[in-house]
Amino acid sequence: MTPTRETFGNISTTSQVAFYFVATASVAVFVYGVWRRARLWQYGQPIHFRQLFTGRLSQIFANIAPGLRRLFVDGLGQQRVRGRGLPSWAHAGLFAGFMMLLLGTTLLEVNHLAEMVSKNLSFHHGIYYVIYEFTLDLFGILFLLGTVLFAGRRLWKPPSVGHRPSDWLVLALFLAIGLTGYAVEALRMVWQQPVGIGARCSPVGYWLASMMSHWTESQARAAHLGVWWLHSLLVFGFIAAIPFTRLFHFIAGPMNLFLSKPVLGQLKPVTLEEAERDGRIGVSDIRHLNTQQLLSLDACMECGRCEDVCPAFATHKPLSPKKVIQDLKSVMERLPDVAVDAPLNPHEVIEAETLWSCTACSACVFVCPVRIDQLSLILDLRRHLTSEGGLSGTAATALRRMQSSANPWGFPQDERANWMQSTSTSQPD
Ligand code: HEM
Ligand code: SF4
Ligand code: SF4
Repeated sequence: MTPTRETFGNISTTSQVAFYFVATASVAVFVYGVWRRARLWQYGQPIHFRQLFTGRLSQIFANIAPGLRRLFVDGLGQQRVRGRGLPSWAHAGLFAGFMMLLLGTTLLEVNHLAEMVSKNLSFHHGIYYVIYEFTLDLFGILFLLGTVLFAGRRLWKPPSVGHRPSDWLVLALFLAIGLTGYAVEALRMVWQQPVGIGARCSPVGYWLASMMSHWTESQARAAHLGVWWLHSLLVFGFIAAIPFTRLFHFIAGPMNLFLSKPVLGQLKPVTLEEAERDGRIGVSDIRHLNTQQLLSLDACMECGRCEDVCPAFATHKPLSPKKVIQDLKSVMERLPDVAVDAPLNPHEVIEAETLWSCTACSACVFVCPVRIDQLSLILDLRRHLTSEGGLSGTAATALRRMQSSANPWGFPQDERANWMQSTSTSQPD
């Protein structure tokens, strides 16, 4: 007997229609959620996205090649998620499992559509079926392992990682989706009674089914239908929840990877023309950030990597790059509630002291898995403070002394020759 299984086996036509109805509803909630976030990004300065795709084909390719590279290496290849021990392994399992299950479900639907056109077009059988079932069973374990490891980390609560109640909801959903997936497979095997390689190619399902071998066919069919519905509703709940939970990082993250261009060690210059055109220097309103910068705030999943490497944070200065991003995000979220011409000043939320604590070392930019440019955001905010004379700390003192005494130490001009001599050996603060 050729190893295979019927798509929607044991599922009545009414249930199938209801399935597609609920699927459409969950996708509609997902699209609405993404649209709500995208609307926030539109408040920013335009980034001329279309220019990337104009001109000759070779020009378009040259424009988008760096972004595509970042998508493949940092997104698919997870290059910047690696190197953090257990959480990195947990994410690798979750990511690989998720991608494979997504691919598997897509192929199943393609096969279903092909079958509707002609039975001859069906490809879900034979050796393809055996490899398909085995691969999905294996990657399902990785998915569950990743979820359990992340749940363990949430219990342990490392201080640099953000914690919200919805994180538990996401992990519980993943766990339930994985477990009900295996249960559906096992119950199907109990009523379908596959034999040989057609059964053994799903090792987890086969093992679970062996524990229910005493069930009658009608019992197995009834349980199969119930668990199939539970599994489907959990998956649809997950799709709808993506834009409203931390999971949104796997939509905004790749988008930011494609669009962002952080260049380490280079300060973006401000030209006189820009200052005259905009009537300002730096950022005094959240709308002064550009669309990509606003989008990048949504890509942050509060992994805490930037905080862990920040020398200012390590030396107990009032600065955490992760918190700066989250504070800016909270200001961005207030945009729909304020009048179009009413200001929305991020400096009301982020203290000048925080901004002046940054050493501009770029360590945070270097480690961010989704290439958020925390330093540019801090410097853009700081430039506004400078243009308003809002300097503080040693930087302010040095500049004031430059103004009054033409040297950063504030020494009297008429004794210049003397102190020039002494500063070559020692420098007062
Ligand atoms: C562009 C691709 C992605 C990148 C760069 C990325 C990056 C990250 C990072 C850095 C973390 C924090 C984990 C840590 O502290 O090491 C995280 C958390 C998480 N990611 Fe992703 N991710 C991506 C795609 C996905 C996908 C496709 C899934 C789907 C399963 C996913 C699910 C999760 C979950 C559930 C968490 C939170 C775990 C927790 O509760 O702590 N990610 N992601
Ligand atoms: S800004 Fe980047 S590194 Fe920092 S917490 Fe957010 S995602 Fe992680
Ligand atoms: S650039 Fe600033 S915020 Fe980023 S790690 Fe260095 S000191 Fe911290």
